[in-house]
Amino acid sequence: MGGHFGQAGSTLWLMLVYLTLPHLTCTDVCPSSCRCNSDGAVKCVGFTITDIPKHLPLHTYLLQLNGTNMNIINDQSLANKTLLLRFSLSHSHLHTIHPQAFQVAPQLKSLKLSSNDLSTLPARVLSPLTSLEQLHLDGNQLETIKPDMFEGLDGLLELDLSRNKLTSLASDVFDGLTNLTFLNLGRNSIKIASLPPKVFWSLRNLKILTLSFNRLQAVPERSFYNMPKLSQLTIYNNPLLSLPDQLMGYMPEMKIFYLFGTNLTTVPGNLFANMSGLLSLNLHLNDKLRELPSDLFCCLPNLKNLSLRANDLHYLHPQLLSSLTTLKILLLNNNKLKSLAENIFQSLRQLLTINLKNNHLQTLPGDIFLSNTVLRELTLSDNPWDCTCSIRGFARWIRQNEHVVTDKDDVMCHSPSYQILRTIGSLDDEEFNFCELQSYSQPLHTISTSVQTTVVPTTSTLPMTTSTLPMTTHTTTQGATQEVTVLTTTQPTKSTTSDFTTSQAATTALSSETPSNGHISPPFYDLLVVEQGPEFVHHSLHRGWVYVWLLPSNTTLAGFLMFCHILLVATGLLLILVAMYGMYRLNKTMDELKVDSKNTLG
Ligand SMILES: *[C@@H]1O[C@H](CO)[C@@H](O)[C@H](O)[C@H]1NC(C)=O
Ligand SMILES: *[C@@H]1O[C@H](CO)[C@@H](O)[C@H](O)[C@H]1NC(C)=O
Ligand SMILES: *[C@@H]1O[C@H](CO)[C@@H](O)[C@H](O)[C@H]1NC(C)=O
Ligand SMILES: *[C@@H]1O[C@H](CO)[C@@H](O)[C@H](O)[C@H]1NC(C)=O
Ligand SMILES: *[C@@H]1O[C@H](CO)[C@@H](O)[C@H](O)[C@H]1NC(C)=O
Ligand SMILES: *[C@@H]1O[C@H](CO)[C@@H](O)[C@H](O)[C@H]1NC(C)=O
Repeated sequence: MGGHFGQAGSTLWLMLVYLTLPHLTCTDVCPSSCRCNSDGAVKCVGFTITDIPKHLPLHTYLLQLNGTNMNIINDQSLANKTLLLRFSLSHSHLHTIHPQAFQVAPQLKSLKLSSNDLSTLPARVLSPLTSLEQLHLDGNQLETIKPDMFEGLDGLLELDLSRNKLTSLASDVFDGLTNLTFLNLGRNSIKIASLPPKVFWSLRNLKILTLSFNRLQAVPERSFYNMPKLSQLTIYNNPLLSLPDQLMGYMPEMKIFYLFGTNLTTVPGNLFANMSGLLSLNLHLNDKLRELPSDLFCCLPNLKNLSLRANDLHYLHPQLLSSLTTLKILLLNNNKLKSLAENIFQSLRQLLTINLKNNHLQTLPGDIFLSNTVLRELTLSDNPWDCTCSIRGFARWIRQNEHVVTDKDDVMCHSPSYQILRTIGSLDDEEFNFCELQSYSQPLHTISTSVQTTVVPTTSTLPMTTSTLPMTTHTTTQGATQEVTVLTTTQPTKSTTSDFTTSQAATTALSSETPSNGHISPPFYDLLVVEQGPEFVHHSLHRGWVYVWLLPSNTTLAGFLMFCHILLVATGLLLILVAMYGMYRLNKTMDELKVDSKNTLG
């Protein structure tokens, strides 16, 4: 009981002291419009303030003026405040500083003149402030900084020049600021030509450098060398078009790196090679970034978060992520990825989250997440999933891992038409039984040339049909290829659908070119017919591969394609005729001119 009473009593006593102390020490000197704190902090707000109050509590070490009507700091404004260490005047339309304004206050450690109207600073106005550690000039109208502006401020730790109108920097402007740890140049108008190559080189203690929201289209080579303590570098929201091959020096302390809002289409493969300590990398929102070098993430043994979202990525190299063994979060959403290699996530054994939303994925390999045993969140919606045979394995995986797919009710079939609006998770394995029949059981027959001569000429006149094959016939095509490959045992085996499609696209002409080492018996590749298959079939041999080209049995489509072909040929002929007529006219005019000139000379 007694203990409780004593505790309550002492609390009450402390409260009394706390309430009366400021009044006892300050009431007589604390100016109106100001609030004076017992430990020496004074804050003054309001438009009635036009100069620094003359009488402040004796021990004032911190003075903050905000939203005042003080437009000028004159030579006596800071006089007789020998204990003042930190001075700030903000949001006050300050436009003029007397050249000797700080001679009366050389003891200042912190000077903040943020959000004012300063457009120039008198030469060497800051030179008396040899103890200055913190200088904020952000939110003014400064267009240039004189090269000697920071001379003598050897102890400066923090410099904020953001939100000004700087267009360039003198190459030696930061020389001597060897103790600087924080430099903000963000939200200015600094252009490429105006970033001198070695402007940051003396800042060997820098920890935070901000260059975001400028107009940099390029950064000089080795700009960020010699900064071994850098832990935060922001260069986002610059219209960067390219980065040099040598840019980042050794910076093992770098923990979080942002590179977004640029016009980069790719980045150098070694961009992050010197950032071995990186935990989080945000290389996102670069709407022109289309390609990433395969070794880009080679040397990030500690990376936990990787955001590549909202770029313009169409393709990822199968080995791109293979070194990121500690990765936990991977964001790939809002890109244009069409497919992913089966082994792309194989080394990411600690991965918890993958976002693949809003890409161009039609299917994924059934085993793609096999090694990601701790995966908890997978996002897959807003992709044009193609629910034909090729999705069977992945559909099976989704059914077995439903709890992992965060948006499973929105992961819907986009094609074929009879599956639209079904979720992939609702596809039964039995529904795909026909796939096996289609790809393996359908017999293939080679038929003697004489029987089929009527079919081949029809298709060989239609070379462009190869690119218009509907997806659904691919399986058959592949089946046919495999069958063919078995028969031609001396040829390498072609196994995956995607490989086939690529080669198919690459081979534009229907050549029946014989391979240099040609071991195939000629009767075989002269003609190939798939029984019960599409009506028009043609195959060709290219570099040792047998390609089978199919036309759908749909006669309307075939007719349409034929029509297009005829139209193209006719247009070509017409153009040739027009060109010939043009030549004829030109010739005639030349002749006339010759005659004319002869007449004139005559
Ligand atoms: C200073 O005043 C501006 C408006 O005049 C206000 O937005 C800002 O929050 C104030 N800052 C401080 C530190 O009081
Ligand atoms: C500063 O103090 C000196 C002497 O105490 C006095 O003469 C002078 O007027 C003061 N200046 C200001 C600006 O208060
Ligand atoms: C720079 O920092 C070092 C270490 O903190 C310190 O010893 C040195 O005095 C500082 N230099 C200046 C000019 O303040
Ligand atoms: C990494 O930093 C070192 C030292 O600063 C430098 O010599 C090297 O070229 C840098 N490597 C890359 C890939 O930029
Ligand atoms: C960067 O991209 C933006 C948006 O596409 C464009 O307006 C701007 O002109 C580009 N800048 C450069 C330097 O190419
Ligand atoms: C990684 O991202 C998660 C979720 O956004 C966040 O909580 C975490 O702090 C990030 N880790 C690092 C190292 O930035």
